[in-house]
Amino acid sequence: MSSRVLTAVAWPYANGPRHIGHVSGFGVPSDVFSRYRRMVGDQVLMVSGTDEHGTPIQVQADAEGLTPRQLADKYNEVITRDLQGLGLSYDLFTRTTTSNHYEVVQNLFLALHKNGYVVSKTAMGAISPSTGRTLPDRYVEGTCPICGYDGARGDQCDNCGNQLDPADLINPRSKINGEVPQFVETEHFFLDLPAFAESLGQWLSTRTDWRPNVLKFSANLVEDLKPRAITRDLDWGVPIPLDGWRDQPMKRLYVWFDAVIGYLSASVEWARRSPDPDAWKQWWTDPSAEGYYFMGKDNIVFHSVIWPALLLGQNGAGDRGGEPGVFGTLNLPSEIVSSEYLTMSGSKFSTSRGRVIYVGDFLREFGPDALRYFIAVAGPENQDTDFTWDEFVRRTNFELANEWGNLVNRSISMAHKNVGAIPKPLAPEAADAELLAVSRAGFDTVGGLLARNRFKQAAGEAMRVVTAANRYLSDQEPWKRKDDPERRDTILHTALQVVQDANTLLTPFLPHAAQQVHEALGGTGVWAAQPEIRDVDDLGDGPGYKVLTGDYATESARWESTPIETGRPLAKPTPIFAKLDPELGETGPSWAPIERP
Ligand code: MF3
Ligand code: ZN
Repeated sequence: MSSRVLTAVAWPYANGPRHIGHVSGFGVPSDVFSRYRRMVGDQVLMVSGTDEHGTPIQVQADAEGLTPRQLADKYNEVITRDLQGLGLSYDLFTRTTTSNHYEVVQNLFLALHKNGYVVSKTAMGAISPSTGRTLPDRYVEGTCPICGYDGARGDQCDNCGNQLDPADLINPRSKINGEVPQFVETEHFFLDLPAFAESLGQWLSTRTDWRPNVLKFSANLVEDLKPRAITRDLDWGVPIPLDGWRDQPMKRLYVWFDAVIGYLSASVEWARRSPDPDAWKQWWTDPSAEGYYFMGKDNIVFHSVIWPALLLGQNGAGDRGGEPGVFGTLNLPSEIVSSEYLTMSGSKFSTSRGRVIYVGDFLREFGPDALRYFIAVAGPENQDTDFTWDEFVRRTNFELANEWGNLVNRSISMAHKNVGAIPKPLAPEAADAELLAVSRAGFDTVGGLLARNRFKQAAGEAMRVVTAANRYLSDQEPWKRKDDPERRDTILHTALQVVQDANTLLTPFLPHAAQQVHEALGGTGVWAAQPEIRDVDDLGDGPGYKVLTGDYATESARWESTPIETGRPLAKPTPIFAKLDPELGETGPSWAPIERP
């Protein structure tokens, strides 16, 4: 039976190009999962966009001498292009600066407010003693009170991932000029998280199948819930939709509050351009729909605690009850799928320290599938993992080029040369049936692992089929069967069937290569669909913008063994994966050279 699956992908900040660490957290895992679920026949809605508000954008806009809006426009375009290049199959990749988003965010705020889950109170806000102006959170730096990390920001500690308030920092200082900020009273709205202690705890206790790191981290958070500010002293963000607040220039909803609501607003936006504007409800208010959220680990708290609390509050289902808001009763996440960090020489990728590999550069030189494969098999699925050029070269050369590329190439070449078409299987033997059994079994094994987001194991199992097929060819030696064309054709037929099966198993990981293999096997039409950039209109008179979307229903890839068609003409194949110069493993590319101490 087909299910509805919401794939909710963390929204990258539009404050710079994304590096391969970012896409190893939210990008590739969410796409591999979504492609698999579409192939089994599920109705997937995959949404995200650029996160364009708050201090992250403002700080960078100042640095580049642009307005926040100009900065967001600039990097939204770069990021959208990179994600398209990687082949991430979003149904909608949009932005948080659309009128639609503002409307959905404000409606959700109002529902929470009406149900009594947001309360206004005074908090301590930082101001600059020399100018007397509000010092935005991101400009306040100091020591994290939770983990002791010295570079924590006023809104979040990047070391332990906890959300902070500027007044929590030990030894706070201004990032602008190093002075010690003054803290003065300022009024803000708070999400009353303690009013979700029961309901959140109860919900979380039913989530037994999450990755242990996420579960443990979230359970600890729910032990100690404190009210959280959801408005901030800044002028770039979604206005607070209440009289007395709406027009205040330095009060806006907190960027994290509006960003997580993006999953809902993007679904509403997607439905607005579909034949049925209410179609989003099938993924949000039908309790049988599933929802998977993909991100790096510094995002966990916002997805496993804050977003569920917002949903419960909107639904009137927090500890104090209430009425569902305009959206009806919304589904809570089925699972928060979080990756750890991709590191370089043991440290996080860091744009400021110049230790970074940008997605755009990577794609230009190596294409999308080698990166997708590397992230899936050697990425930070369960622990922080170092990216090395050496390992990238090894995985690409030995696994993609030698193992998979070679299997495709030699089986199609031999069939092309000897028969010119997919040969007939005339003399089957036990070895053929054995190999076919291995590839058939792959659908359950690999599929089961993909359904649980176990990418490393899933890719490993798919590659086992490839290895078995290579061994089969070495054992059967079809090239030595000149005198027995019936047996030779049977071997080649079997090998090609297994190429077809392995290609299906690898499609979620390698969708671009899979399309090529499909065509090399004589297939036509779209096997694995790719995202496109389209121009769209905003609601009302907001400016038009570009989104990433696609016609994924047109693809023919299905998660099953598809019999190859005997007699279908085969052309001489061209290699699918180019081998990399082993030198690269020692030097790195010119645009990201390996630094030797
Ligand atoms: N922009 C955030 C980051 O890069 C992620 C936002 S995810 C969302 O860390 F849930 F808020 F959308
Ligand atoms: Zn910390």
